[in-house]
Amino acid sequence: MKILIIGGGGREHAIAYKVSQSKRVDRLYCAPGNAGIEEYAECVDISAMDFDKLAAFAEKEKIDLTVVGPDDPLVAGIVDVFEAKNLRIFGPRKNAAIIEGSKAFSKELMKKYGIPTAAYEIFDSPEAAYAYLDNCKFPIVLKADGLALGKGVLICGSLEEAKAGVKRIMLDRQFGSAGDRLVVEEFMTGREVSVLAFCDGTHITAMTSAQDHKRAKDGDKGLNTGGMGTFSPSPFYTPKVDEFCKRYIYRPTIEAMKAEGRDFTGILFFGLMLTESGPRVLEYNARFGDPEAQVVLPRMKNDIVEVLEACLDGKLETIELEFEDNAAVCVILASDGYPEQYEKGFAIEGLEKFKDKCGFYAFHAGSRKTKAGIVTSGGRVLGITATGRDLKEARKNAYMAAGWVTFQNKYMRNDIGKAIDEAGKEA
Ligand code: AMP
Ligand code: GLY
Repeated sequence: MKILIIGGGGREHAIAYKVSQSKRVDRLYCAPGNAGIEEYAECVDISAMDFDKLAAFAEKEKIDLTVVGPDDPLVAGIVDVFEAKNLRIFGPRKNAAIIEGSKAFSKELMKKYGIPTAAYEIFDSPEAAYAYLDNCKFPIVLKADGLALGKGVLICGSLEEAKAGVKRIMLDRQFGSAGDRLVVEEFMTGREVSVLAFCDGTHITAMTSAQDHKRAKDGDKGLNTGGMGTFSPSPFYTPKVDEFCKRYIYRPTIEAMKAEGRDFTGILFFGLMLTESGPRVLEYNARFGDPEAQVVLPRMKNDIVEVLEACLDGKLETIELEFEDNAAVCVILASDGYPEQYEKGFAIEGLEKFKDKCGFYAFHAGSRKTKAGIVTSGGRVLGITATGRDLKEARKNAYMAAGWVTFQNKYMRNDIGKAIDEAGKEA
């Protein structure tokens, strides 16, 4: 088979690695790809948002299957464009990707079908939102309705902060048209867990759990980022929690989408909060998580291409997902200053240490190949993943491997997976 992966970040590197392991694959392409993905795939210089060029490439090269990584092309309808040309593509259509593209849509869906989530109200005007906030308890959560690079969520500790937040989202339009509508949501507390699931429109099969670390600094301080590191599995995601989620969250969600005429085929990502009164949905995404994919995929035993095909054929029930009985930790190496200002273009040294080392991965996110070698080209530069027999060992390995790589202004959090030690103490 010839496979095309769309995207060029750490998540797509992890997908490319996993797809490259499949016995079914003869040739692998990635658009636009990155300096790390080149190891497995031929990178094609076409933007993930240029659907006409991508489809023309898929037609010309007789691509058998296209796999979409990021949210933007999915929400903008890349799957519909490919399907109209009879090209096989893995991901939700536009009318299903809206589950990520509009927080108002996803909240209404959960309310209509009784899926546990935080209480909320939706506003189309700042005046109505201000009036509502006057009678709220704090903290409260404000969410821009549309896609905002994971930054459109504000947790506000007071009325003043909340009013300033409404202004930023709806009047100053800090997140552009994503702020046309506003969701105001009850603040919840608890452990956060990410669960990714394969979906074939009718059936849903969850993968192993993971946990992200969204804040820039140790101790969950600093600004929200795209994610500074992950571990898998989450010790807090117990069999009892899994049972609850399957029954009251995963199956009801895929069934709700079907009932709405929005059959979901692709990866459904559940951002969950384990509250005192049980698991609640924080958010849905319509794709693999980044950097969740970097810890979940290296642990997956199945041939991923077989699973993707089963989803497209509506036969997910014939597949039993299997994961290694181990753990993985991913530490993001970022450019100091991320997610705000940072410098780039610095030489990255030490990547050769990962060659032929089983259980160690350097997934590229913001890197670029130059004549002088590979240099930094983004805020999140690399995702260093390592596996181990358990989370403690995986964590030790990941931080050891993070030390193999050097570049100027290298920054990382030092407490990825620290919850693991806490879990040990709680147990
Ligand atoms: P989201 O993009 O919706 O996942 O939100 C980003 C982050 O904001 C989440 O990972 C949580 O840490 C936090 N968050 C979102 N919604 C809530 C909520 N209702 N209560 C508390 N924290 C929240
Ligand atoms: N790691 C969170 C996300 O992919 O949205």
